[in-house]
Amino acid sequence: METKILPVKQGSKVLYDIVISDGMNEIHSRLEELGSKERTVVIITDSNVDPLYGDQMMKALKKDCKELLKFVIPAGEDHKNLATVETVYEFLIQNHVTRTGMLIALGGGVVGDMTGFVAATYLRGIDFIQVPTTLLAQVDSSVGGKTGVDFQQYKNMVGAFYMPRLVYMDLSLLKSLDDRQFASGFAETMKYGLIKDAKFYSWLIENSYEIEDRDMEVLAQMIYTSCDWKRKVVEKDPTEKGDRALLNYGHTIGHAIEKAMNFQLLHGECVALGSVCAAYISYKHDLMDKDEYLEVRDMFVPFHLPISITDLDEQEVLKNTYSDKKVSDKARKFILLKHIGRGIIDTTVTDEEILESLREIIYKPGED
Ligand SMILES: NC(=O)c1ccc[n+]([C@@H]2O[C@H](COP(=O)([O-])OP(=O)(O)OC[C@H]3O[C@@H](n4cnc5c(N)ncnc54)[C@H](O)[C@@H]3O)[C@@H](O)[C@H]2O)c1
Ligand SMILES: [Zn+2]
Repeated sequence: METKILPVKQGSKVLYDIVISDGMNEIHSRLEELGSKERTVVIITDSNVDPLYGDQMMKALKKDCKELLKFVIPAGEDHKNLATVETVYEFLIQNHVTRTGMLIALGGGVVGDMTGFVAATYLRGIDFIQVPTTLLAQVDSSVGGKTGVDFQQYKNMVGAFYMPRLVYMDLSLLKSLDDRQFASGFAETMKYGLIKDAKFYSWLIENSYEIEDRDMEVLAQMIYTSCDWKRKVVEKDPTEKGDRALLNYGHTIGHAIEKAMNFQLLHGECVALGSVCAAYISYKHDLMDKDEYLEVRDMFVPFHLPISITDLDEQEVLKNTYSDKKVSDKARKFILLKHIGRGIIDTTVTDEEILESLREIIYKPGED
């Protein structure tokens, strides 16, 4: 495939490039441009990604850097916390990494968010690069500069907006991702179609087989369009004072379900369920008709995402929609669809509407 490049700007200034490629060939010149030959570079990865790509990356990048180190954190959201961040600080201090040091986040959203947070705070800020290895990280979390960790029971409660110097995507890294993780990342891709781009939405559906087969050309197009939307949204509203909130489509109820299910479901699976609920509420608000709602609901199925769930405590979910930190002054900011392709912010969604939408997705065994 041909390498694609998307510059992310602030005004007319390019903050960083997103490079979309199917190998590591182009990372060398990019590192050199960032002065890596004079710098200590530290790869931060997790205990699942390390055995797959850790050595390969160390070998590939060694000659590009003055010194190249690697630090492995335990995989999983359970470790996305300040205790893990401390272990990274300790490693950096022990290895005398100074302000000219540079971090590379090699992993999914957990590694990316946490490495970005370390980069934002260590010595008041050092450079970092994102090398996202999950579909979710490639289409969503590696772009836009949100970094952070979970704190106590609160997700992403502590963090900083801090931009990477480069986002380098090697699509071939996705080959080792299991099907469930792949589908979960896809939910975020669908989100861009639903809130911004009806044509992209239709294209995704037309290409569902190719996407399932992970056809490289189709994935490249899909990831490019997703990143382009994320780029446009974050360029317009970098710190989420307005339109960036549209990216939370499916997330108010999605997060609430994630919590009610004790994080037993993957993020994208909960986003798919939350998206069905939000489409239902859009229909109830006369923003779309029933057929359009049913279409949104059913199109998750060919992509192996859930549209119904058993054993969900609806009152618990409702309560959780209030503890989401994105709730401003008690008014729940809800993202609805004014037809497929146009997300809007709404603050009038009632508790009763949320409960009704949950009843649409709760499957009671024995019912059909
Ligand atoms: N910063 C943002 O804007 C933003 C946006 C969305 C989500 N997030 C965050 O992203 C996180 C979720 O990201 P995620 O879904 O990538 O989770 P993750 O980082 O936990 O990765 C999922 C799993 O896949 C494994 N893995 C990673 N790459 C692999 C590969 N190539 N092959 C095989 N296995 C691989 C990981 O070790 C992990 O077990 C959450 O913490 C969420 O809060 C951040
Ligand atoms: Zn998400």
